[in-house]
Amino acid sequence: MEQPRNRVFSGVQPTGNLHLGNYLGAIRNFVPLQQTHECIYCVVDMHAITVWQDPKELASNTREVVAAYIASGIDPSTNVIFNQSKVSAHAELAWILNCVARIGWLNRMTQFKDKAGKDREKASVGLYAYPVLMAADILAYRATHVPVGEDQKQHLELARDTAQKFNNDFDAPDFFPLPEPLIMGPATRVMSLRDGTKKMSKSDPSDLSRITMRDSADDIAKKIRKAQTDPDPLPEAVEGLAGRPGADNLVGIYAALAGLSKADVLARFAGAQFSVFKPALADLAVEKLSPITGEMKRLMADSAYIDGVLAQGADRAHAVADPILGRVKEIIGFI
Ligand code: TYM
Repeated sequence: MEQPRNRVFSGVQPTGNLHLGNYLGAIRNFVPLQQTHECIYCVVDMHAITVWQDPKELASNTREVVAAYIASGIDPSTNVIFNQSKVSAHAELAWILNCVARIGWLNRMTQFKDKAGKDREKASVGLYAYPVLMAADILAYRATHVPVGEDQKQHLELARDTAQKFNNDFDAPDFFPLPEPLIMGPATRVMSLRDGTKKMSKSDPSDLSRITMRDSADDIAKKIRKAQTDPDPLPEAVEGLAGRPGADNLVGIYAALAGLSKADVLARFAGAQFSVFKPALADLAVEKLSPITGEMKRLMADSAYIDGVLAQGADRAHAVADPILGRVKEIIGFI
């Protein structure tokens, strides 16, 4: 079985409220990889149900992620776009890897601690095992590169450790490649617009905390206008952003949207007040996001097209994953 050298896998959960962090930290970075890698982009509906989802909303949120992928520039004819639950290799391999990964490794996962909160006993078993399913997603394709936001770094380390332990335990050197995280650009961790010390997230109760991929131009401008900052003007250099999380976040967002570095942005806006910088950022955000939002809306109105993309993607995903899972079963002695 040939070892792929340039295979990208990544996933986004269909939990609604896709936001600027998902776009700048992940989806946007998926696009240029199409030129250089074989790309497999998944809608991870099995991860979504680790916390309860309304079944009707889950279906529509699944289509929303597909629409976001395509509207952002991912071509479904050359890349694989599919939903996780359609390809049983994910669940099967996850079980096998549950028997490889160690409880001690999962106990260290900070995302589980955050999401489970104080009442850990009431969290689903699935939420606890989430990182192992994520390892299975990647390893089912023997993917070599995984573009993600910074918050997924620890999960990627667990995927690498799991791959390495499987290779060692079963004397199958190099069977699973150790997947490399690709954490790219100036916005790998977009923060809440209401609190620059907290990650922008789908579940924040405040709508003003995030710009979503469905927001109108007016919503975007309003949220940026209301973003939490401080009274000082923008500094001349990146070091001047230290201790100013709100300012740092907005500069990072501007840089990512404009395709610049934070230093470039500060060279342009050094000494500017937020009363000048915020409108410039709002204009840029509207210019970059509105065409994507519009295209998403158009695609969402054509669910037959989206479902066709998912069906074709699932066939292609099966064709890659099934032989790999077959080989895994042989390696571990299933007959
Ligand atoms: P999800 O849906 O929570 O996030 C999707 C992607 O968006 C990134 N992201 C952010 N990036 C920058 N700033 C933020 N505030 C921000 N919030 C989210 C995430 O890092 C992610 O890249 N566990 C994954 C889904 C997954 C997956 C996989 C990813 C399941 N299996 C296999 C890669 C490979 C997740 O967090 O999804």
